[in-house]
Amino acid sequence: MNLLITGAAGFIGSHFVLRHVEKLPHDRIVVLDKLTYAADRSFLDPVSSKITFIEGDIADQQLVSKIVDDHTIDIIINFAAESHVDNSISDASPFIHTNIVGVQSLIEVCKAHPGLKLFHISTDEVYGDLDDADSPYKVGDALTPSSPYAASKAAGELLVIAAMRTYGIPACISRCTNNFGPHQADEKLIPTIIRNALQKNPVPLYAKGKNKRDWLYVTDHCDALELILATPWSFHDEKIGSGHIFNISADSEKENIAVAEALLDLLSASRDLITFVQDRPGHDWRYAIDSSAVRNLGWKPKVGFEEGLKMTIGWYRNKYTKRS
Ligand SMILES: NC(=O)c1ccc[n+]([C@@H]2O[C@H](COP(=O)([O-])OP(=O)(O)OC[C@H]3O[C@@H](n4cnc5c(N)ncnc54)[C@H](O)[C@@H]3O)[C@@H](O)[C@H]2O)c1
Repeated sequence: MNLLITGAAGFIGSHFVLRHVEKLPHDRIVVLDKLTYAADRSFLDPVSSKITFIEGDIADQQLVSKIVDDHTIDIIINFAAESHVDNSISDASPFIHTNIVGVQSLIEVCKAHPGLKLFHISTDEVYGDLDDADSPYKVGDALTPSSPYAASKAAGELLVIAAMRTYGIPACISRCTNNFGPHQADEKLIPTIIRNALQKNPVPLYAKGKNKRDWLYVTDHCDALELILATPWSFHDEKIGSGHIFNISADSEKENIAVAEALLDLLSASRDLITFVQDRPGHDWRYAIDSSAVRNLGWKPKVGFEEGLKMTIGWYRNKYTKRS
């Protein structure tokens, strides 16, 4: 297969590419990334001789179309996104550009190249949040996003769903819970806790740290995506008449304060570093999704929460110690 993988100089996409090259070395991979603040091209250094890297924007339809032609691409896997909720609250415009206009640009390229598949990587945040007693969201439940980030991801998804129906584009969408692991941008919760703990600075937590997230180690997410990719009926088929959407979750819900305490304990830092700060506007309380469809394909997470935290700490300790 010839794959165009967008946003793969970022957190999840870089892990996906590193694993894919190892697993299926005969596939040809082109990476397209705009190299925003969240990217680090050096993540791909271990495979740089085995992939083609192009710096550019998914919203540049002409560029994407040329890449598809030049490299006879079979499938676009779209990890490219603006992904930080707080940034979307300050300024939604880059989110509209990449997560909506960028996705439509990929759809236009698919329209012009019949048979070209689109695997769109999305998030459980499109569903909105849940109360403690609620059952996990299922595929098919209404999308009720809370933040401009989640709304832009929901809009991008709806464009993909409409493109499956209207143009018969073979497409698939995955919605995953919170990922953790190496390569995540410094601003996100777990890198922020580790960095501050290493520097003995206050560890900021919104409100009382009681919001719950379901944490999945990043390579487990990548393995689920590989399985979906390898399952022919994952993609929309005009004869079946409906597109496919997969929830991916760890079923490992934790309060943010429990995550902070676990990290501080593993780092032998004092829990007194935890400092509660003013809550994020519109802050989602709890995420939980039903991932039985991908589990029925034979997937389940392999990396336990504490094991994953230890690997994550090891990587960031190296990064933050080198820097200082
Ligand atoms: N991180 C999570 O916990 C999580 C959970 C579920 C789903 N997701 C989804 O997975 C995908 C990847 O998330 P991530 O955490 O790796 O994000 P990230 O912010 O770490 O990386 C995003 C990458 O996309 C690139 N990019 C941004 N705008 C672009 C554009 N217009 N054209 C080309 N490249 C562009 C950036 O340079 C960066 O390399 C996103 O769609 C996100 O919504 C993330």
